Amino acid sequence: MKKDYLRVFDFTKDEFLFLIKRAKELKEGKDSSKSPLIGKSIGMIFEKPSTRTRVSFEVAIYQLGGYPVYLSPRELQLSRGETIKDTAMVLSRYLSAVVIRTFSHRIIEEFAKWSNLPVINALTDTHHPCQAMADMLTIFEKKGKLEGIKIAYIGDGNNVANSLIEASALTGANINIATPKGFEPLRESVDKAKNFTRVSLFSNPFEAVLDADVIYTDVWLSMGEENHIEKKSKFKNFQINSELLKKAKPDAIVMHCLPAHRGEEITDEVIDGPQSVVLDQAENRLHTSKAILEFLLAV
Ligand code: CP
Ligand code: NVA
Repeated sequence: MKKDYLRVFDFTKDEFLFLIKRAKELKEGKDSSKSPLIGKSIGMIFEKPSTRTRVSFEVAIYQLGGYPVYLSPRELQLSRGETIKDTAMVLSRYLSAVVIRTFSHRIIEEFAKWSNLPVINALTDTHHPCQAMADMLTIFEKKGKLEGIKIAYIGDGNNVANSLIEASALTGANINIATPKGFEPLRESVDKAKNFTRVSLFSNPFEAVLDADVIYTDVWLSMGEENHIEKKSKFKNFQINSELLKKAKPDAIVMHCLPAHRGEEITDEVIDGPQSVVLDQAENRLHTSKAILEFLLAV
């Protein structure tokens, strides 16, 4: 039975924690001579731009012995109206897994429904589960634990926020989310996460960051929202700057999934400052991509 990774809650707590541990081992070079993907080709369909996700998956597939097949939607018959169903069924005859970045989460669910292969979500409008796993590996490396860690996410209640909430639930981290009214994260992710950990919503970022171990932000306008000028105007008070950072614990780390809009959701001073871990966070995309591929393709 194939297994997909479309959202963080597709993994159990044990699976998620195992994969963080496994990613750490792979980062440390354990089993680096093994090639679990040898002879396997992995499709990569990206309907939106990507630097980290695309490159980390391509390199991960190569380093695990497999072959990445990058499929630009413009060059697929999808662009001429072939259905997701037919595309998913046909690609299942050639490939061993598919990594997809797209718009509506329903598109990837539809693809996964008709595909016999593991489908991995490389970002949809509402979830970014691969990012959240790398985030948790980064927090674990910097803080030595995840259980009880206090995360404050400031900004838009978007795909990154939803997956971070779900990942907090599976790891026992507590999470405060500060968004302008009307931009809260998915109710469903919050409600489910509350069965596992403490999730609190705020409209004042200064209250959300009090005594936080981790301060996290993402862009105010996600891919596809670039022209939503009115939305952007609501986020002026939701910037991570040195004044906000002072309210967190003195050893708090600053995280951002990148790409950043410097001067908007985060200042240069903070993202380039000593508390920022954004480059380690970006590097960890590679190690967690490997752990996810190895796990889903281990048959
Ligand atoms: N963080 C992230 O997913 O970056 P890319 O859009 O560059 O893949
Ligand atoms: N929320 C951002 C994340 C980019 C990695 C977006 O969807 O554009």
